[in-house]
Formats: sequence, C-alpha cells, structure tokens
Amino acid sequence: MALSFTTPNQHSRIYSVGAYRPERIVSNSEIVDQIDSSDEWIRERSGIQSRRFAGKDESVIFMAKQASLQALERAGISAQELDAVILATISYPYQTPSGATELLQELGAPKPAAFDISAACAGFCYGVGMAADLIRSGTARYVLVVGVERLSDYTDENDRGTAFIFADGAGAVVIGPSVEAGIGPMVWGSDADNRDAILLEPSWLEIKEGSEKKWPDISMVGQKVFRWAVFEMAPIAVEAMEKAGVTADTLGAFIPHQANIRIIEAMAKAMKLPESVAIAEDVRLAGNTSAASIPLAMDALLQQRPDLHGKSALMIGFGAGLVYAGQVALLPPLPTSSR
Ligand code: COA
Repeated sequence: MALSFTTPNQHSRIYSVGAYRPERIVSNSEIVDQIDSSDEWIRERSGIQSRRFAGKDESVIFMAKQASLQALERAGISAQELDAVILATISYPYQTPSGATELLQELGAPKPAAFDISAACAGFCYGVGMAADLIRSGTARYVLVVGVERLSDYTDENDRGTAFIFADGAGAVVIGPSVEAGIGPMVWGSDADNRDAILLEPSWLEIKEGSEKKWPDISMVGQKVFRWAVFEMAPIAVEAMEKAGVTADTLGAFIPHQANIRIIEAMAKAMKLPESVAIAEDVRLAGNTSAASIPLAMDALLQQRPDLHGKSALMIGFGAGLVYAGQVALLPPLPTSSR
C-alpha cells in the first residue's frame, strides 16, 4: 500500500538576500609586487580592480552570521522559524562539527537541520537547488542557504595564478514556500576526470606526515578552468533556462559565479543574451569569493538596480571538482523595510 501524505508546497522562492563584505579593501597595487604583475594585467585578464580580505575578527562564521542576519531581517523571518541551514564553503577551518551548526549557535537557534556543502564555487547553487526541493517535498518550510569563504587563508600570496583572484565574503538567502513557481529545476553535474584542475593541498594527512608545505593552498590550472567554463557552462545555463520555461529575452538578470569577467562575458555572448539582461559584474570589486560570489553579486545588483526585485535571474556556479549547478530563480521582492 502506498504511503498516505500530502506535500503542502507546490513551489518555493527566494524571500531575501543578505551580504557581508569584509572591511579591508585590497587594491591590485597592494599585491602586484609579490607576484611580479601589474594593475593593468590583472584588470585586463580578470576584470578584478580590488577585493576584500577578512581581518582577524571576520571569521567564516562571523561573516556568515552577518549575511544571514541581514537576509532573515529582510525576509521578516526569525532564525527560530528555520527548518534547515545549508552552509556552502570550502574554507571553514574545522572538518567537523559542521560550520552550519556553529552558525546556528551564533544565530541563537540551535534546533534546525544543519549541514555544510563542499561544492566549491557551485556550492551556493547546489544549496539553492536542495532548499527548493526540501520545501517542495514538504521536508522543510524555511531554509537558510549561506555561501561564505575566507579564501585569503588558503591562497599563496606568491602564486601568480591565484593570488590576485581569490577573496573573502559571505552571502545568504532565505528560501520558503510560494504559490507561484519561483525556483526552476537545477541542472547540475560534474567533470570529475578533471578534478585536479583546482586543488587545495596538501591534505591534513600529508601535513601530519611531514610534507614540505605546512598549510593547504589553492592551486589551479588557470587555462584549463578557463576553457571548461567558457565552452561547457553556457550550454548548462541554456538548459537551466529551458527547464524553467524561460527564454533569454524574458530574463531579468544573469548572475553567474564571479570567477573572471572574461568568462562572464564569453558565456553571455555564447548564450546570445540580449542587452536587456542585467549582467552581474561583482568580480570587479569582490574578486572570486567562490561559494559566496553569487549571493554577493545578487545583493550588489539589487542595490544598483532595485527594479530587478521580483524579476527572473539565471544563476550558474562552477568550480573545483570540477562541479557545476545552475537554475533560474525569481529575485527576492523588495524587503518590507524598504517598500
Ligand atoms: N601577472 C602578470 N603576468 C602573468 C601573471 C600575473 N599574475 N600570471 C601569468 N602571467 C604571464 C605568464 O607568465 C605568461 O607570460 P608569457 O606569455 O610571456 O609566457 C602570460 O601572462 C600568460 O600566462 P597564462 O597563465 O597563459 O595566463 P592566462 O591568460 O591563462 O590568464 C588567468 C591567467 C588565471 C587569469 C586565467 O587562466 C583565468 O582566468 N583562468 C580561470 C581562472 C578562474 O576563473 N578560476 C576560478 C574558477 S572557479
């Protein structure tokens, strides 16, 4: 005999977004000497003009908490009402317990389900997809999805291929039930045969066994990642639009992972996005903040273009693994406080 239950929510949507940017702004000129580079080269190859590096007191959980509090306040939902917290990060410095449980303690709401996702720069979109499905299935009503990174801790300041790219910050969204379709199906997958294109190494075991390097840093085969992102990710983004039943001319915004402005521009071109679509370019001032980059870019775009509240946005995250995930979602409505 079949089980007897009903699923209460046909749809879900993003209620709000919150962001936290570390106080210290680091310009290109501050890092060029270490890597024998120039402001001009960095701007031209990546679009990055400056980024933020977290200070001593701006821990992963501190930043996640600030972004979460802002998202909760804008959604008009208390931390006690959450059913689950999903934290996407690769830079929480403890293997266990999860960063999500520390965040819950900090939010004064220690009861919801809580777990971390290790999907690097795709982590936020993975989290949004899971939250949407948890809500539609009736497992959860309100889910907090946070993307946070302190990549300055895991970047070798002398590495020419990464030192100017990676940075710190946090973004969060509150996701809940909706009468209208607010989050489209997620298109996700991986290319695990190329998992060595981006690595955080050595492992703790290798360090324990006396490896030469005493601390894990990110290494990246830049050109390989660049080509993969440019050629493989545009079709995934198009598929996400098809699955959500939207076309490029009805799209409000394109908010891809903020890896590199040339990747963003090449993807937009490959998808033939019309000029009416607003394209997030937060990478210019934020660098690549991995799991935090899409919610940070969403928040920045909504600050610049309040008319985009409630419009559809195509999101796609891709990175170490190599893994990816994308979906179309309605951007959150104007927060109650600013209506
Ligand atoms: N500053 C100045 N010159 C640099 C440099 C730096 N930081 N790094 C490399 N160069 C030089 C190289 O020595 C080389 O010089 P040469 O032509 O005289 O030999 C030249 O620039 C090209 O090097 P290359 O490594 O081929 O650079 P690139 O064009 O591939 O650009 C990246 C490097 C990292 C900007 C680019 O590969 C990239 O954006 N990759 C994707 C990275 C990314 O977005 N990762 C995140 C995904 S989640």
